[in-house]
Amino acid sequence: MCQIDKVLIDDIVQEYGSPLYVYDANCVRDNYLRIVSSFKNIVHKIHYAMKANENVALLYVLKDLGCGIDAVSPYEIDRALNIGFDPSDIVFTPSCTSVNEIVYGLELGVHVHIGALEYFPMLEEHLKGKKIGLRLNPAISIEGNQKIATGHLGSKFGIPVNYLNKVLEYKDKYGFDVIGLHIHTGSNIHDVEGLKRSVDSLFEYAKLFDEIKYLDIGSGLKIKYKEGDLDIDLDEYAHYIRCKLNEFGKHVEIKVEPGKYLIGNAGYLITKVNIVKKGYNKLFVGVNSGFNHLIRPMYYDAYHEIVNISNPKGDLLKYDIVGQLCEEDTFARDRELNEVRVGDTLLIKSAGAYGFSMAMDYNLRKKPKEILIEDDKVFLV
Ligand SMILES: Cc1ncc(COP(=O)(O)O)c(C=O)c1O
Repeated sequence: MCQIDKVLIDDIVQEYGSPLYVYDANCVRDNYLRIVSSFKNIVHKIHYAMKANENVALLYVLKDLGCGIDAVSPYEIDRALNIGFDPSDIVFTPSCTSVNEIVYGLELGVHVHIGALEYFPMLEEHLKGKKIGLRLNPAISIEGNQKIATGHLGSKFGIPVNYLNKVLEYKDKYGFDVIGLHIHTGSNIHDVEGLKRSVDSLFEYAKLFDEIKYLDIGSGLKIKYKEGDLDIDLDEYAHYIRCKLNEFGKHVEIKVEPGKYLIGNAGYLITKVNIVKKGYNKLFVGVNSGFNHLIRPMYYDAYHEIVNISNPKGDLLKYDIVGQLCEEDTFARDRELNEVRVGDTLLIKSAGAYGFSMAMDYNLRKKPKEILIEDDKVFLV
C-alpha cells in the first residue's frame, strides 16, 4: 500500500485548510507499472477509466507514462483531447446515451463501443466505412457489490450476446467493421476465475469478426482497502489471457481499463474534527465533510481505513465517524480510532477513485480542494 508522510500532511493542512483531497503521483506511477509488468508478455494498452477521477494533473501523470483513456461522455473525451491525448488512444464506452454523442465519438475517430443493438438503425449513414467496437453483455454474474455489477442478465450495459447475428446483418447493411469487443462485468473483483469467464466470452465472440483488432477486458481490478484485504492477482489473470491469445492464434491487442487500480490508493481525503459527541449508546466524531465529498461508504457500503494522524498514540476508542450534512452520512461505524479530539485531522485512505469525481455541492457546501504531491513537492491542482 502507498504511504503518505504525516509531517507533509500537517504542512499541507496548515497551508490549504481542509477538507482536502491529496493525491500521490508516485503511487499512481507504481500502480501503472505494476499492470505493465504483469502484462509484459501481452501486446496491450492501458486506458485509464477517467470517471474514477478526472483531475487534470493526474491525467498528465498517466499520459506521460503512455497510458490511454477510457471515456464515458463527450465531456471526458474533450478533457482528454485538450490535454493532448490522441483520439486513437481513447476508447469511448457510453451507456444509454443519445445517438448524437455516439456520432460525436465516431467523427472524432476515438474507439467507440456501441452498447445497444437499437443504435445501428439510428446511426445508419454515420456508420459507413467506420471501424467500431461493441460492448457486450455476456450474462455473467460476478462477486462483489451488485450495485456495480454490469455484465449480468438484468444489467442495462452492453449488447446481449444472442443479438450478435443481428449485428452481423447490420454490418453488411450499413458497411462498418467491428474491430473491437469490450466486456466489463463489474468493479472491485478479486476473483480471477470470474474475470476469466468474461475473457472466454471475448475470445469466443471474436471469432465472428474476421476484422477484429482488439479485445477490451474492461476492469474491475480489486485493490486492498485495508491491511489483510484481498486484491486481484494480476499475474495469474495476465497468464490466462496470454494462454487464450496463443489458442486464438490471430494477433489481437488487449485493452484494459482500470480506474480504481491506478488511482484508488493514491488518494486521501483529509478532514478536520468539528465535534466529538455522546449519543445514547455510542460516541460520534463529526468531521467537516460528508457524502458530498466521498459517497462510497454510504452508497456502496465501502470500507475506507481512517486514521487520526493528530493523536497516533492516543487510547483506542470506538466511534461512528459521521459528516456534517443534514443527512445520514456515516463514513464508518463502531470504528476504533486513537482518541479523537476537536480539531484533530483524520485521514480517510484509498479515496482517490470515485471520490472527488462523484462529489457534489449538496447543502451548498463546497467541494474540497485537490493537491498533488510529487516527491516532496506540493501543488494545488
Ligand atoms: C466500462 C468501464 N470500464 C472501466 C471501469 C473502471 O472500473 P474500475 O474502477 O473498477 O477499475 C468502469 C467502472 O465503472 C466501467 O464502467
